[in-house]
This record gives sequence, structure tokens and C-alpha cells, in this order.
Amino acid sequence: MVGLPARGKTYIAQKVCRYLQWLSVTTKVFNVGNYRRKLHGAHQAHTFFDPANKQAESKRRECAAEALKDMIRWFEEESGTVAIFDATNSTRERRSFILEQCAEHDIQVMFIESVCQDEALILQNIMEVKLSSPDYKDMDPEKAAEDFRARISHYEHQYEPITEKDVTYIKLINVGSQVHGESMFNLMGKIGGDSDLSPRGRQYAQVLPKVIQDHLGDQKLTVWTSTMKRTIQTAENLPYPKLQWKALDELDAGVCDGMTYEQIEAEYPEDYANRDDDKFNYRYRGGESYRDVVFRLEPVIMELERQQNILIVGHQAILRCIYGYFLNLPQDDLPYIKIPLHTVIQLTPKAYGCEEVRYKVEVDAVDTHRPKPLKPKQVPNSNPTMPNTTTTSVLSNAFASLNAPILKRKKLDV
Ligand code: SIN
Repeated sequence: MVGLPARGKTYIAQKVCRYLQWLSVTTKVFNVGNYRRKLHGAHQAHTFFDPANKQAESKRRECAAEALKDMIRWFEEESGTVAIFDATNSTRERRSFILEQCAEHDIQVMFIESVCQDEALILQNIMEVKLSSPDYKDMDPEKAAEDFRARISHYEHQYEPITEKDVTYIKLINVGSQVHGESMFNLMGKIGGDSDLSPRGRQYAQVLPKVIQDHLGDQKLTVWTSTMKRTIQTAENLPYPKLQWKALDELDAGVCDGMTYEQIEAEYPEDYANRDDDKFNYRYRGGESYRDVVFRLEPVIMELERQQNILIVGHQAILRCIYGYFLNLPQDDLPYIKIPLHTVIQLTPKAYGCEEVRYKVEVDAVDTHRPKPLKPKQVPNSNPTMPNTTTTSVLSNAFASLNAPILKRKKLDV
């Protein structure tokens, strides 16, 4: 990363990391600020960042070198694929040091420079993110803001934007939920298919507009559904523009489509056990695995990151993958995330994570969650009322993304 303080570098770094991890790329962020806090304490006044303060400058260089050393070790000893070196790296000299060290270890470097001249965005970032950082814990917010501004000013004096001819870089300029209704197959404990909503699912579709209105007011939303009847029917009363995505269709259960878990266990016992053994990687015969779904959803995630205020009316496996992305959950846990029917999940991405609120709608529905078996391959007979394909409504707040890390976020998702 390259850029002055409060330009959203950490936000971008975390976001890229989460995205790559979701796509199974081993990624880690090395944040130089954390090394500085560990080696020299969190509460350093702005003078610590003054380039004229030679003693402090040498300490700061030492922190960057330590972080870089750990990063290189991680590549070599832990088979890392992508490391994100999160620091200001705002001088040619610092970038050249990084390039040299990486070249010695055959590591390719690409810089991402975040440039922001929009004073309002910078101020917002200072107020929303910086003042709650460990650097300013328990400090008067006005004094903290003043100190942080002085820190930025020290960096400004020596800042050299990337102009080097021989480096690879990207410059970012002024950058800034989920819902499902019960279907007939849910009632029968069957997975897959393209059935209509059950009577209770229709009831949910009736009350959904009011639920959204009660929680979000007159917020303008866009609704995304799959191309399957149950999500389209769940969304039909919502007074917003709608878009159908084939990529949002439920996980394809192949030959097991339309079967109950009991039938699958009887007809395909080996598959049944294999799925419990490694549900993320298990691919239905002629169908898909969770891993396949993650890759299928990649364009959806990209688009979500570019947009705001999206309400996704989706299916259980699909919503698990999207939810797992925003909450940065481990792959193994992803197929077991609880996405209950008739519940609106609101996700609001923040700089250091994602805020979540769930609204349970008072319309009964079957429980479609099937917990992770304790001992793989010794699975007791499954509960037939636990299918894995449903339609849940998820209101997703796709926030500004790689090109807008400092944007103010509005609460949204379901
Ligand atoms: C920090 O100490 O917070 C970051 C140091 C830097 O990257 O300049």
C-alpha cells in the first residue's frame, strides 16, 4: 500500500485480503502500525512521525523492516501467496527498500496507491476510523483529531506519489444484505428443485415490504433475486427495481436434486458421508460444491462491492457464501452458517469488519439448518425437515469498494 494516513489504506488492504481468502488464495496483511505499537507503545505523539525527529525516524524504519522480514518469512515458511504490506510507504526510498528486499526473495511487487484530496472524506475517515484506533484510546477526541492532523502534515512534507517508471502500480483516487421465503420443497424436506412458495412463504412475501420499510424507512434499494420461482415470488411485492441473476441460483444438487436427506442417505450413502466429511469441497454428482458456488458468485461479489443498498432475496447455500465473504468466515464453517427462513439479515460493512442485525419475521417456517456433524462419517440419520435449499431474503448492503474505501456507509442489508 502507498498513501498518506487516513486515505483508507487499511480498509483496502483488509478488503483485498478478505476477497482473496474467500477465493482460497492464502493472503495475509502485515500492518506496520501494529509493529510500531508493539515495539514502541501505542501512544506516540505526532512528533514521533516528524521526519526531523531522527531518533524516531530510525525506530519507524526498524518497524517497517521487522514487518517486511516477517512477511518474507511467511512467504518462505508458510507458503503464502499474497501478502499486503500495509503502511504509508510514501517515499521513493521506502518503496525502493521494499523492492530490493522482495527481489532478493523472488517476490513480485505491485503497489496500490490511495490518493484522496477530498477534505470531507479525509475528515470523515479520521472521525470514524482513526479516533477509535488504539493510538488514541481514552483520549479527548478533539485533541486526538488535532494530533492526527499534525501527524498527516509530517507525512505530507515528505510524500512522493508514485512516479517511478519501473514499478507496477494501481492508483485509486478519492475512493469510499440478504432475505428467503419457505418453499413447498422446504415443507417436504426436499433439496433443490424450482418449487413455488408454500402458503407461509407467500405470507412472508406479503409482510416483507413492511418489515423493510419499518427498519430502513424510505431508503432506496435494488432487489436481486435468483432466476428461481421462490426468490422471485418472495420479492414480488417489494416496491424497488429488481434484477434476476442466474449466478444467484441455488447450489445445484445434481442427481440428488428433489430428494430428501433420508433418500440421499439411502441411495447414495457414500456421497452422504463424504459430504458430511468435507461439505465445502463435496461436489454433488452432476452438480456443484460450495467451492464451485463461491467461484460462481465471484462476479456477484464484485458487483456488490461497487454498489450500495442491495437487497438479495436468495437461497441458503448462496446466502451462506455471501455472508461468509462479508463476515470473513473460515471455509469449513461456511456450509453450516445459520441462515434461517423468514429472517432479514442486515449487513453493514465497516472499516474493520461488518455489523450485523437480524430481523426475525413473525411468520413460522421449517428449520432448514443442519448442524455440522461432530464425528465425520458416523452421522446419525438426518432430520428430514432439514433440507439445504430454501429461499431466504437477504438485504445486502454492497458497499463502496476497492475504489471507494472512505465512503460513509449507510446501514442497510438484511
Ligand atoms: C504507523 O506507524 O502507523 C505506520 C508507519 C508508516 O507506515 O509510515
